[in-house]
Amino acid sequence: MDYSELGRLADKARENSYCIYSGFSVGAALLTAGGRVYTGCNIENASYPAGICAERTAFSKAISEGERRFTAIAISGGSKGEAPQDAYPCGICRQFMNEFVNGNEFDVIVVHSDLSHTVHKLKELLPYSFGPDNLNK
Ligand code: THU
Repeated sequence: MDYSELGRLADKARENSYCIYSGFSVGAALLTAGGRVYTGCNIENASYPAGICAERTAFSKAISEGERRFTAIAISGGSKGEAPQDAYPCGICRQFMNEFVNGNEFDVIVVHSDLSHTVHKLKELLPYSFGPDNLNK
């Protein structure tokens, strides 16, 4: 699976976004080490903090299916019905992902408005992180 295709799957996942409060739709496509893809979208709630981001939806789907090894996640977000606009993962999602991946290896792919993309290591986005190794000593 190349990252351009993963980015397109993330953009497609925006279509299912439930974002009636913000009007900002986000899609994510998470690639496992075994080559499977789990998609997710943001799901908002009348009680605003109860909503969940696209990235955590995708991870939760995968983790709950038994997946534990991940290669990359692509993210596409922007005003609903419009082109994506460089949506980087929020801080909570960066921390959530860090639990399950090696930040030096895991790729975060941000989809641009023309559906081209940029690749970052999670470590770039979450330096000096706190993770499982801090507690398992
Ligand atoms: N959102 C995501 O799905 N992922 C992010 O990393 C940033 C924000 C969603 C949450 C909310 O539904 C909407 O975008 C506006 O914040």
